[in-house]
Amino acid sequence: MADASTIPSRAIQRIRDAIERASETGRRNMNAMCLATVAPSGAPSVRHVLLRSIDEQGLRFFTDVRSEKARDLDRNPQASVCFYWEPIEEQARIDGAVARLSEAEVADDFATRPRAGQVMIHASPQSQPIESLDALRQAASRADATLPDPVPCPREWIGFRLEPRRIEHWQGSRDRVHTRRVCWRDGDGWHETLLAP
Ligand SMILES: Cc1cc2nc3c(=O)[nH]c(=O)nc-3n(C[C@H](O)[C@H](O)[C@H](O)COP(=O)(O)O)c2cc1C
Repeated sequence: MADASTIPSRAIQRIRDAIERASETGRRNMNAMCLATVAPSGAPSVRHVLLRSIDEQGLRFFTDVRSEKARDLDRNPQASVCFYWEPIEEQARIDGAVARLSEAEVADDFATRPRAGQVMIHASPQSQPIESLDALRQAASRADATLPDPVPCPREWIGFRLEPRRIEHWQGSRDRVHTRRVCWRDGDGWHETLLAP
C-alpha cells in the first residue's frame, strides 16, 4: 500500500510530468487549463487561463481584477480546472478553494513576462467593452512609449492559488480501459482510488 501522506505530491507530480511530456511534442500552451467559476446567478462560467506554477500548496494563475472570473472568485472562492493534453491523451481535473496571492507574488510572476505582454496587460481593460482593436493597439503603443523598464506590475493584475481538494488524472488507452485515478482530501488525510472510465 502506498504511503497516504505522499498521495497529493504524487498527484501534483503527475500533472507536472504530463505538461512536460505534452510540451515535448512541440505543442504550445500545454499549461493552459479550463477554469470554471460560479457566477452570482449560480451558473457555471468557463474560460482558459495559463497555469504559471504548481506545487503542493496549489496551482497559481493570474488575471485582471476587472474580469468575470476575478469577480466570481472574490464572491465565491471555489473553482474547478481541467487540462486536456491531446498529444498524450491525458486529462486532469482539480477542484478546490482559491485564495488571492499576495501583491509580492503577483509582482514576482509579472516580472518574468516579456515586455510586450506586460505592456498589453497595462493597456487592456480586460473584459470591458472597447471601441475597436485599433484603439487597443494605440493604447498599447502609448503605454509602451511611457512605461519604464522594468515595467511595474499594474494594480489591476492579480493572482489566485487553487488549493486542491480533489485531483483526478485520466490516461487514455487504446483498448478503452482508460485509467482514472482520483485522490481527495478528507479532513487532514488523503485517499486515492481508481474509478471506472
Ligand atoms: C490558451 C489561453 C490562455 C489564456 N490565459 C489567460 C491567463 O492566464 N489569464 C487571463 O486573465 N486570461 C487568459 N486567457 C484569456 C481568458 O480565456 C479570457 O478570455 C479572459 O481572461 C477574460 O475572461 P473572464 O472575463 O471570463 O474572466 C487565455 C486564453 C487562452 C485561449
